[in-house]
Amino acid sequence: MQSWFPEAKLGIFIHWGIYAVNGTTESWSFFNGETTYDEYFSQAPGFTASQYDPEDWAALFKASGAQYAVLTTKHHDGVALWDTQAGAISTVKSTPAGRDLITPYVEALRHHGLRVGFYFSHLDWSHPDYASIGSDDPAANRFAFRQGPTDDAGWERFLAFHRAQLKELCTQFGPVDLLWFDGDWERDAETWRMKELRDQLHAWQPNAVINSRMQGYGDYATPEQGMPVVPPEGPWEFCVTHNDNWGWRFCDTNWKSPQYVLRMFLETIGMGGNLLFDIGPMEDGTIPSESREALEFLGRWIKPHAEAVYGSRAGVPTNCFYGPSTRSQDGKTLYLFVFGDPRGHFGLRGIKGDIVSATLLDGTPLTWKRFGHSDWNPVPGAYEFALPEGKLDPEVTVVKIVFKEPFSVYQGPGRD
Ligand code: GLC
Repeated sequence: MQSWFPEAKLGIFIHWGIYAVNGTTESWSFFNGETTYDEYFSQAPGFTASQYDPEDWAALFKASGAQYAVLTTKHHDGVALWDTQAGAISTVKSTPAGRDLITPYVEALRHHGLRVGFYFSHLDWSHPDYASIGSDDPAANRFAFRQGPTDDAGWERFLAFHRAQLKELCTQFGPVDLLWFDGDWERDAETWRMKELRDQLHAWQPNAVINSRMQGYGDYATPEQGMPVVPPEGPWEFCVTHNDNWGWRFCDTNWKSPQYVLRMFLETIGMGGNLLFDIGPMEDGTIPSESREALEFLGRWIKPHAEAVYGSRAGVPTNCFYGPSTRSQDGKTLYLFVFGDPRGHFGLRGIKGDIVSATLLDGTPLTWKRFGHSDWNPVPGAYEFALPEGKLDPEVTVVKIVFKEPFSVYQGPGRD
């Protein structure tokens, strides 16, 4: 695991493909029979990328406070966004966009100092050899399995195609910081030959971080849509849509408010994770205005509060402080994210350590008192803080508490 990844905190996920033309669900709509395969692919002639401005995308991502982005180079529908020579379907050959959309994305991200991530679906519901694994289940989906015995030669051809596309992605676009896989679930690690794949990926891109959707051969967990209530083990990233869909759907207006996006972000980093916030550009490359606004909002808040965000570690449990928090790498500073107006005062308990100072990030001091702390008691007592008047951030106020030594957390029931 490269150290940049757990320190980056915010990434932008981009689901962009022919599904944006009519606003159907990405890939799943034909797999689930909501639409036919042919109807789904009748969107291809409408995919123009005519307003695609990756410089503008990257500038927006940068302004949002994101440190990396992950673009769907190929979703489950099999439409590659680059000029693949390994397969027949791409934005170059199959859509009026007629060009490779990955190179300018990579160049723009690099130009703005952002890390480059590629989403790639292992499975490909368009490739004729993908469904060469046999199934006796008469209900098995025909895009995933064939009826009857496995066609071994067919699967070998599919793996050769899969590796060939990954070779293109890993060797034609310069360094790739993050390989974000998806769609591993229809085959096991052995059938995918995941170990061999992982070794191969590292030979091509020695510094790439690889997500978990590798049947056990990835670097970090990717809980999706439902935010963890307790943090997963090890490094992780919570991926979530801005409305209810990964890609652009004009009928979906269930946008999370900018304030709620900020809340999700702080709750995620407070548990030590990254937020991979998804947006779905329209077929021409326009980012929906709601998403643009949310990203700008995030950036406006993060910028003056960067110290509490980047490079931080998970904070303290929410039974110690009723909100998210982070801590510094040396464990001596605790950053509390105070939502709304605590009407003058708020508390902190269960923290073992002596406070040296409590301030806002601009240095304005807070007054504080300590209660119930004594040598005989395992409960470390509690603190009450008073916020200086007129200093509340309109969204979330950050309180910085510096301890003499790295603090620790007490989670016991107390004693008589
Ligand atoms: C799911 C879906 C997919 C989406 C992905 C993002 O695995 O299959 O459509 O791209 O989640 O995490």
